[in-house]
Amino acid sequence: MAAQFRKPSGWFGSLFFGRFMNRVNRKIIDSTIALLELSPQHHVLEIGFGGGVSLSSVAETVSRGMVTGIDVSPEMVRQAERRFQRQIAEGRIQVQLGNVSQLPFPEATFDRVFTVNTIYFWPDARQGIAEIHRVLKNGGRAAISIRSGDKMKKYAVTKYDFRLFSPDEVADLMRQAGFRDIRVDHRDREHWYDQVVVLGTR
Ligand SMILES: C[S@@+](CC[C@H](N)C(=O)[O-])C[C@H]1O[C@@H](n2cnc3c(N)ncnc32)[C@H](O)[C@@H]1O
Repeated sequence: MAAQFRKPSGWFGSLFFGRFMNRVNRKIIDSTIALLELSPQHHVLEIGFGGGVSLSSVAETVSRGMVTGIDVSPEMVRQAERRFQRQIAEGRIQVQLGNVSQLPFPEATFDRVFTVNTIYFWPDARQGIAEIHRVLKNGGRAAISIRSGDKMKKYAVTKYDFRLFSPDEVADLMRQAGFRDIRVDHRDREHWYDQVVVLGTR
C-alpha cells in the first residue's frame, strides 16, 4: 500500500489508485490552488499529479496559459494522457515522466509550481525544493502541501517509506533554498485530514 502511494503502478495503480487519491485529496488540492492566486496567462507546474484532478482544475483557470505535470509513475502519466487527450491536443495540459530531483525544464520557466502530498517520497527534499526554486520565474510562487507529520504518524501505512514533515520543517527548507515571504496556511488542524500549504515567493 505504501508503495502505491509512493509510485502507483500496475492495474491497481491504474484502475484504482488515481481515482482514490483524487477523492481523498480534493480538499487540500482545492486549498492549494486557491492560495496560488492563478492568473489566466500563468504557466503552472505540478509535481506528482497522481490522479490528475488538479491538472484539469488549473487548466480551467489558466485559460491563456498552460499547466504542465510531471510524475515518476509511468502509470499515472499514461492515465493522464488518456484522460486529458483533448486538453493535451489543445496545448492546455502537458504531462510527462519526471522526478522532482532533476526537473526537466530550464530555469525561470514557470509562474507557479505546486505539489500536494508528494514530499514524503522525494529522494532528497532539499534538492527537490532547490529544483522548484530554479524553475520558477523571479516573483513566482510555490506551494508545497502536506498533511502534518503529527497526524500522519498515527497511520500504519506511513511507517513504511514515508518521510514525515512538520509545517515548520517545510517552511525552513524553503527559506534555506532562497524563498521569501514564506507563509504556512494550516486548516482542519483537529482532523486526521489536516491541510498544510506552505507558500513561498522566488
Ligand atoms: C500520494 S500521491 C499524491 C497525488 C496527488 N498530488 C494528490 O494529492 O492526490 C503521490 C504522487 O507523487 C508521485 N511522486 C512520488 N515521488 C515523486 C518524485 N520524486 N517526483 C515526482 N513525482 C513523485 C507519485 O508517483 C504519486 O503519483
